[in-house]
Amino acid sequence: MSTMNTVGRPTAPNASDNDYKHPTLTGGRGLLQDEALIFEGEGWGKTGVDLPKAKTDGSDLGDLVRRDPIGLPGLSEPEAMRHYVRLSQKNHAIDLAIYPLGSCTMKHNPRLNEKMARLAGFSDIHPLQPQSTVQGALELMDTLSHWLTTLTGMPAVALSPKAGAHGELCGLMAIRAAHEAKGEHEQRRKVLVPTSAHGTNPATAAFVGYSVVEVAQTDDGRVDVADLASKLGPDVAAIMVTNPNTCGLFERDIMEISRLTHAAGAYFYCDGANFNAIVGRVRPGDLG
Ligand SMILES: Cc1ncc(COP(=O)(O)O)c(C=O)c1O
Repeated sequence: MSTMNTVGRPTAPNASDNDYKHPTLTGGRGLLQDEALIFEGEGWGKTGVDLPKAKTDGSDLGDLVRRDPIGLPGLSEPEAMRHYVRLSQKNHAIDLAIYPLGSCTMKHNPRLNEKMARLAGFSDIHPLQPQSTVQGALELMDTLSHWLTTLTGMPAVALSPKAGAHGELCGLMAIRAAHEAKGEHEQRRKVLVPTSAHGTNPATAAFVGYSVVEVAQTDDGRVDVADLASKLGPDVAAIMVTNPNTCGLFERDIMEISRLTHAAGAYFYCDGANFNAIVGRVRPGDLG
């Protein structure tokens, strides 16, 4: 017996998914709409808002009278709203799946933390708001700084970087500024990065203008100290080491690594992406 529908959808209960090859009308999958760019749509000449008719003689605008169409497509109000809702659904979120890699700042963030960060008292603050109106947020930042200096054993913290790679940029820019202040920037153009490093480490060094030199790792996945020592010299600005490293291993030779680095006149950038694993056990500030 032939199928009852005419577009070829399977009607028999034992039909496999592979038989179901006919695309949906919108090209979308389930409720995820496959949306064309608004420039590809047919919204030219449309508008979702009614603005008061502008004077066309330019009397309100001095010489600033528009001569040509601005070339932006128009959308009705529901089209604009649906566009932004669809964009928001393209975000990866902890409610959809885990963060496997690529955002060490977020990997361990429970849902509750994101909710707290969205409290109006934080998220609605304007950067130029009078300080007297943001005392609660300032107190929180001060308390956080105190906790971080206590846990890391470092003399100070910067709260400006928004994520791990941003923190690397902040650190390497500080290192470059320190070499510039000492008049050594021109001679120190290399940054040493172990092969086990997360990709953002060499990317950051290159972004700040350094050339990246790889340091080998041992068979058990730690920094090869002999290889490091052979590459340190007066042309090295810094070394970037993550501890515990990206293989999840604590760098047992960390104090020797920092001693060798400082002896060569270079700085040690310690990537704290995996700091959670050592909190309360050891402080990076005590490791040189
Ligand atoms: C060792 C390491 N460094 C840096 C980063 C970059 O951090 P972010 O993704 O927060 O920018 C990551 C991210 O997973 C990382 O694992």
